[in-house]
Amino acid sequence: MSDAGSSRDTRVHTPPLGYKALTPVYDLAIATLTREGAWRERFVREIAPEANDRILDIGSGTGSLAVALCKQEPDIKYVGVDPDTEAVGRAWQKTAKANANARFVRGFFSAQEEYFDKPPDKIISSLVLHQVPIAEKERIIKEIYQCLRTGGSVHIADYGFQRSALMRVLFRMTVQALDGVADTQPNADGVLSNILSEAGFEGVMESARILTPTGSISIYYGQKPGWRR
Ligand SMILES: C[S@@+](CC[C@H](N)C(=O)[O-])C[C@H]1O[C@@H](n2cnc3c(N)ncnc32)[C@H](O)[C@@H]1O
Repeated sequence: MSDAGSSRDTRVHTPPLGYKALTPVYDLAIATLTREGAWRERFVREIAPEANDRILDIGSGTGSLAVALCKQEPDIKYVGVDPDTEAVGRAWQKTAKANANARFVRGFFSAQEEYFDKPPDKIISSLVLHQVPIAEKERIIKEIYQCLRTGGSVHIADYGFQRSALMRVLFRMTVQALDGVADTQPNADGVLSNILSEAGFEGVMESARILTPTGSISIYYGQKPGWRR
């Protein structure tokens, strides 16, 4: 297992389902409470993996997105990065079982790290940004911009702007009950599009919104300006 997290790194993170003890039931909870089939399938379609794409997944968790992407296009170069040791262990196991060609790095994402021999074509992240403080949302998106190749794209699937009263109530009763309000509310208020634009991304859009029993999950896209492959 690769490990980019130095033993001196004292930063804390929220585990996949809010509490360490709940990590073993993470996959089951996501499958039953988020209409996972619907949003992950749509997210993979938006990412549109092509052979030889270098794809970096921030907060890769237990490896479900790696399996879905490699199933769609087995010849991608995929690296997942996540600070949670148990999640990374589960991701290695899950992708090995699925025969998916994926690699995982334990640690916090940093634009200073070299995850591939060249900058990534696509940087993706699902269900991570709602869990982190606003300063970390901004840092991650800023560093995604720095890390991407010119013309590369960012794809984010996460709880975003909760437009209706029903979605706001469901989000409050579920995700906010587990992960708290301070970190999650900015997402529900719709900050992600603004943070992406402020970081320099062009063509920023919310390309899909999937209603779930835990609030709506939005898919965001942005492109780093410049030359395209
Ligand atoms: C809700 S899980 C999502 C996992 C996976 N992306 C998925 O779609 O199932 C959130 C993940 O983000 C990771 N995480 C928490 N804080 C993070 C941070 N500051 N940077 C990157 N990942 C983080 C957690 O360890 C966890 O695995």
